[in-house]
Amino acid sequence: MYSIAQYTDFFISYLETQIIDKEPKNLYDPISYMMALGGKRLRPTLTLLTTEIFGADYKLALPAALAIEVFHNSSLIHDDIIDEDPIRRGKATVHKKWNTNIAILAGDAMIILTYDYLQNYDPNLCKDLIKAVNKMGLEVCEGQIWDVDFETRQNVTVSEYLKMIEYKTGALIATSMKIGALIAQTSQENCDLIYEFGLNIGLAFQLQDDYLDLFGDTLTFGRRLGGDIISNKKTYLYFKALEITSESEKELLKDLYAVRLEDNTNKIKTITDLFLKSGVAKATQESIKKYTNKASKILDKINIEEDKKKLLRDFAESLIGRRV
Ligand code: IPE
Ligand code: IPE
Ligand code: MG
Ligand code: MG
Ligand code: MG
Repeated sequence: MYSIAQYTDFFISYLETQIIDKEPKNLYDPISYMMALGGKRLRPTLTLLTTEIFGADYKLALPAALAIEVFHNSSLIHDDIIDEDPIRRGKATVHKKWNTNIAILAGDAMIILTYDYLQNYDPNLCKDLIKAVNKMGLEVCEGQIWDVDFETRQNVTVSEYLKMIEYKTGALIATSMKIGALIAQTSQENCDLIYEFGLNIGLAFQLQDDYLDLFGDTLTFGRRLGGDIISNKKTYLYFKALEITSESEKELLKDLYAVRLEDNTNKIKTITDLFLKSGVAKATQESIKKYTNKASKILDKINIEEDKKKLLRDFAESLIGRRV
């Protein structure tokens, strides 16, 4: 086994050999731009790591890891259109740098490339990989539409919210690991358990994303702070606040999330103060910890060496501490 950082490096080196330099430029340039913007490469790293954890060579998993990262990036391009976000990874989003039509088409082409990369595998394995990716792809779309619906719905529960993030974020992280397990030809049970592990770290990851949207650092996070508040995106912090704050604070929050403003400075400040003072920020951190612990417990059931489990546990812990 290698270190997590080494798996990420292996992936990045492979990615650099796969740049598409083709016409029309207005389709392929935004794809290259997005893929080269960086990002943590979390999901492909997990794919390579999982293949090795179950006893096969990570090199076998490189095309699948690329498929997953391309899919992830397509979902970000479309997500930034939906969320009207101007910045991603510290740079202009594709629909801002080019335009929305180009961003839609670049994202579409990347979904097709995902399947192209999966064609590198033998027919039987390829069929299983596509099945896993299809299930995940639909879940991402379902999760994303729920996310959008929740912006204007008043009575969303915390459990509905958790289901939504399980779909929009958890499914892709879980599937990144599952396809690594499928490539290693491990047992069905291991594939299912590693999927569950991924789902739980995916939930923790999205909760941390919600947290960082407000309490992160623009420089490291690479997105504008308070973006979710600007677009009235109700995240975990909002739903938690509806559970634990006073009646008057709830009313204030509901009112603030019902208006769209030109200047959001005061709105962001009022909400940030409320989340800090009422314990919402702390409760979010506790929830993140809860899902990470849950993931760790699932590892106990997987039949692999202890040092491999430790690598996965350390990885899950490092996600909690992330600032990016
Ligand atoms: C962002 O994912 C989208 C979410 C699911 C929160 P990442 O935070 O993994 O994005 P990059 O690839 O590192 O930029
Ligand atoms: C992103 O959720 C989920 C997908 C892209 C499928 P967010 O909208 O919270 O992600 P960020 O915060 O823009 O990265
Ligand atoms: Mg977004
Ligand atoms: Mg979004
Ligand atoms: Mg977010």
